[in-house]
Amino acid sequence: MRTDDGKPTLLSEYRPPDYLIEAIWLDIVLHRTATRVRSKLTIRPNPAGRPAAPLRLDGDGLVPHAIILDGQALPLTAQVVTADSLTIADPPREPFTLEIETLTDPSANTQLMGLYRSGSAYCTQCEAEGFRRITYTLDRPDVLSVFTTRIEAAKEDAPVLLSNGNLVETGACEDPARHFAVWHDPFPKPCYLFALVGGALDCLSDTYVTGGGRRVALGIYVEPGKVPLAHYAMDALKRSMRWDEKAFGREYDLDIFNIVAVSDFNMGAMENKGLNVFNDKYILASPQTATDGDYAGIETVIAHEYFHNWTGNRITCRDWFQLCLKEGLTVYRDQEFSSDERSRPVKRIADVRTLRLRQFAEDAGPLAHNVRPDRYLEINNFYTATIYEKGAEIVRMLRHLIGMDAFNQGMTLYFDRFDGTAATIEDFLGCFAETSESDLSQFMRWYEQAGTPELKVVSTFEPQDASLTVEFSQSTAPTQGQPTKQPLVVPVAFGLVGVTGTPIALADVATEGLSAAELRSGVVELDGPTRRLTFRGLPERAIPSTLRGFSAPVKIATDLTPSDLTVLLAHDSDSFNRWQAAQTLATRVLVEGTRAAGSVQRPNDVDPGLLAAFAAVLDDPHADPAFVAQVMTLPTEADLARDIGQDVDPDAIHIARESLRGTLGSALHDRLLRLCQPPKDVLPYSPAAPDAGRRALRNTALWLLAGGDAGLGQDLAAAQFDAADNMTDRIAALGVLSLIPGETREIMLNRFQVMFADEPLVGDKWLSLQASIPEAGTLDRVERLMSHPTFSMATPNRIYALIGGFSANQTQFNRQDGRGYDFIAEIVMTLDDKNPQVAARLLNAFRLWRTMEPHRRTRAEAALERIAERPSLSADVRDIVTRSLG
Ligand code: ARG
Ligand code: ZN
Repeated sequence: MRTDDGKPTLLSEYRPPDYLIEAIWLDIVLHRTATRVRSKLTIRPNPAGRPAAPLRLDGDGLVPHAIILDGQALPLTAQVVTADSLTIADPPREPFTLEIETLTDPSANTQLMGLYRSGSAYCTQCEAEGFRRITYTLDRPDVLSVFTTRIEAAKEDAPVLLSNGNLVETGACEDPARHFAVWHDPFPKPCYLFALVGGALDCLSDTYVTGGGRRVALGIYVEPGKVPLAHYAMDALKRSMRWDEKAFGREYDLDIFNIVAVSDFNMGAMENKGLNVFNDKYILASPQTATDGDYAGIETVIAHEYFHNWTGNRITCRDWFQLCLKEGLTVYRDQEFSSDERSRPVKRIADVRTLRLRQFAEDAGPLAHNVRPDRYLEINNFYTATIYEKGAEIVRMLRHLIGMDAFNQGMTLYFDRFDGTAATIEDFLGCFAETSESDLSQFMRWYEQAGTPELKVVSTFEPQDASLTVEFSQSTAPTQGQPTKQPLVVPVAFGLVGVTGTPIALADVATEGLSAAELRSGVVELDGPTRRLTFRGLPERAIPSTLRGFSAPVKIATDLTPSDLTVLLAHDSDSFNRWQAAQTLATRVLVEGTRAAGSVQRPNDVDPGLLAAFAAVLDDPHADPAFVAQVMTLPTEADLARDIGQDVDPDAIHIARESLRGTLGSALHDRLLRLCQPPKDVLPYSPAAPDAGRRALRNTALWLLAGGDAGLGQDLAAAQFDAADNMTDRIAALGVLSLIPGETREIMLNRFQVMFADEPLVGDKWLSLQASIPEAGTLDRVERLMSHPTFSMATPNRIYALIGGFSANQTQFNRQDGRGYDFIAEIVMTLDDKNPQVAARLLNAFRLWRTMEPHRRTRAEAALERIAERPSLSADVRDIVTRSLG
């Protein structure tokens, strides 16, 4: 295990490498406990590096068995081997070759970084720094090499042998029970994109012909018997390939594109050149086992990894500080893809929900960091919502600011200019500065300043001259290490809605303070602390609709009244802001309700305007059901906790939210009941957006209805559970049942478990559902489940489902007695020895501990201190715990 040496890596200390590795030949003989790796590197001094510098290769937990330089054994006196390096003090000044042999034990690799075993397969994960666990190398993304990989194995142990690039040779070995394959990847790449897979795997094959006429053999490799579950993933892959040609002019560039699904994987998936490796939950799906959300997730992740072929692989990152260069941009690209394949407004709402839940939360606590960090102790801890989701928002803002044409030209320029290189954020932004002929230096602050800006909007209407003044101001609260914040460039998509609901075009009224370009685009650029706009001669009182489509990742504080918001909810031409109006209305009621904790509100206590507004949305015959479902879904307890922001009492939030659910459920009873009826024409299940939207609405209705009438809810849910022909409806029903204490719930949970006992991914749903129950008994239940056969501490998906599910349970993780914190702390410490990456991820649960009320805060701090005091911690956990306490 790599432990913490306490020295941060700094962006300011970046130096080009002293040596380059032009080619890497690997000869790997797979064995479950003793895999032999022979490498041959062709190395040359980098003209841009320091002359005659020592050559220091990275290696993690390796022992070199032989080192040969230019054909000669390297004398021991010429080499220094430490736990994390191999240094040759005085290497040749001319190009030379270096051959190294090491042994590694994939079965003992519980970190799941480097070469490890998953199920019946060998597989690798090298990003960020896993390749150095396979062999010695310059493990940094700005060293690009051409890889040739020979893999040998016993046929029985690994009938399938895969690596990056094209297959150049296969054959039997001298020993007829053994065989080999040679793969060659013509595209120079950093070693984090290396991959190797071996095992008994079945393959779903297909072909794709690119726009330019290249025939690409597609393969999705899965555990034996699982091919039928890979069809949706294959379909998503082909759609992604087509879309990237159409939307970005990017074609695939090899003759083979393979994907392998493995059941042990720390994260979502990995974009290794020509050989993506996936967490199997982002591949395997059938209507009976996967929800609509799972299907959407598969589509997104397939697209994401495929799109990396250009944004990540063809153009990679100069160093890990530039991680958002590939991740933020690729998330932006996969979001656009899903928006085109599904409903754009609904996708936007879903993405903003995720952004707020994960990224705003990160930004609001001690783990806040820049989208381009300037230091790190452990790079694995920076695969965060900030780098990914906020990184994507920055790209989107750029598009809003410079317009679609300059944005598209900038992307093309970026692909042309930096293809085959390891680039930086400056390189990327430079392209857009050029095509838009604008100065993006202030915009750059989005990458260099942590924290979520707050946009305040104050509007004053003067009835005498029918004028409206809107004042914008921005501010960002200090974050750790960044006490003062500077104003950012905030694109504010803006419009006006008349108080009777009529849209008012900006071009039709006299305006002050808006440029011609802003009038045309409807995007107001706020680059200073404040800005004021005036609109005169309005036909009626106008309501500002600000930040349409969520044009910037900011918190927004408006002075709109409930009746203004009701007008926006009903009439705004921007769907996002219609949804936002509903969220704002509900949030206000819930924050109020939390203050009055315990005083259960009855239907009359809720503003009748709010109820009428929700009723009107439900009654709208033209509304997209998926959109209505989003409107009817209340802000989560975690969202409310973050909005309240200090002295949080999760129990009070829970009571308030349950109360509003009940109120809505009772007040809208008849409408909801109608929605809960089983669909009349029973068509075969399709995961497509329109059908998924109808299911989402029905299941949201069921959840609300059950809040108002638990008995009725239980009956309906039980019936739906039995009648369901798909996982979406079945798990939604079980979710509603799980909230109603009593025997029925336990019976249904058991039935579900028995039905899907052989489906580990469904088992995860069963585990996380139970971990989410907002009741005092849940911790005991979770502890019991840890010894259930469904659970295993060795598989990340199981851990994320049960332990991660519990840590997201607002009332129970944040139990007043501190047992929730202690439980997670214990697990983190136990897991740290085996899988530090997963342990560090779980520890993120504490990210908002300081916003809790004092009693819980003390308990959380004590739990964190206990971890910190542990003498041996991985760099991963040490880093998170130190920053959390800092
Ligand atoms: N590049 C991958 C993706 O976003 C993430 C891999 C990160 N893995 C890790 N162990 N840090 O698609
Ligand atoms: Zn990615």
